[in-house]
Amino acid sequence: MTARLHHLLSMEDLDAAMIELILDTAHKLHEIADRPIKKVPTLRGRTVCNMFLEDSTRTRLSFDLAAKRLSADVLTFTGKGSSVSKGESFRDTALTLKAMGIDAVVVRSHSSGAPQQLASYIDVPVLNAGDGWHQHPTQALLDLYTMRHHLGDLSQLHVAVIGDILHSRVARSEVQGLRTMGARVTIVAPPTLLPPSIQGWGVDVVRSIDDIIDDIDVAYLLRVQHERMQGGFFPSSREYARIWGMNGDRLRRMKAGSIVMHPGPMNRGVEITSEVADHKRAVISDQVTNGIAVRMAVLYLLLGGGPEGAGHASAEVMA
Ligand code: NCD
Repeated sequence: MTARLHHLLSMEDLDAAMIELILDTAHKLHEIADRPIKKVPTLRGRTVCNMFLEDSTRTRLSFDLAAKRLSADVLTFTGKGSSVSKGESFRDTALTLKAMGIDAVVVRSHSSGAPQQLASYIDVPVLNAGDGWHQHPTQALLDLYTMRHHLGDLSQLHVAVIGDILHSRVARSEVQGLRTMGARVTIVAPPTLLPPSIQGWGVDVVRSIDDIIDDIDVAYLLRVQHERMQGGFFPSSREYARIWGMNGDRLRRMKAGSIVMHPGPMNRGVEITSEVADHKRAVISDQVTNGIAVRMAVLYLLLGGGPEGAGHASAEVMA
């Protein structure tokens, strides 16, 4: 039997059985979005605090909607407009939330390790919504969900993760999740945007997309994270697009049935052309939609729903 999940801090903490459980739970919850009233009472009376100390569009809205669709009360907290901007320590902020009796915290932070730290200060589930360059587990889970939906058995897939690996928490979580599920992963990146630890990732590394384009099932493009770069990691955006970018010519060389993914936000014209981003084989909007069901699933599992879907409210959801 799968162990209980206490926090969601890193993809490293999840074995294949736990990932399957989360994806299967998300699959059952997905249909709530198709109902006229998109809400179930599963987390009624529970309070989820969304603590977003770094900018976010998709992840923040998606966690917000996920908690609301499960009928939780949601508090949203950002760095700006709170006492964090007055220099209140992370620990004191955490103790304030604890004193208010919240039931779970979703945290995004510039600092790698902040969710782990938070989990040591408070005794409620902590969900990592992206910490520095470190981890973004719900992004990896929604991506695995999307790949499984479009392509089936994850262990049979060859996925290329392309671009700014160095600064990307998505890449770290994505590769761990894919490797845990037995997928083959190839990294494509400028040498300057590869982390020194890449040898230990269990992946192949190639210089150019053209080396593998006709063999992959998924081209997973990463955003070039200009805000985390000082100085030149590559000659120019044009040069980047030419060597590492996804364009129509490359898309046409991909296998039948293969897909293109991007976590957003996109730099159109840099890592992906508009032709590809808006093509039917790009499943970027599906990733966003699936993110809600996946975040509902992790909130549900962390806030009391057992693997068997115990409890009357969950039974209603899982039926
Ligand atoms: C990612 C993030 O914030 O890490 N975006 C997201 O959550 N959808 C990727 C990125 O910012 O490039």
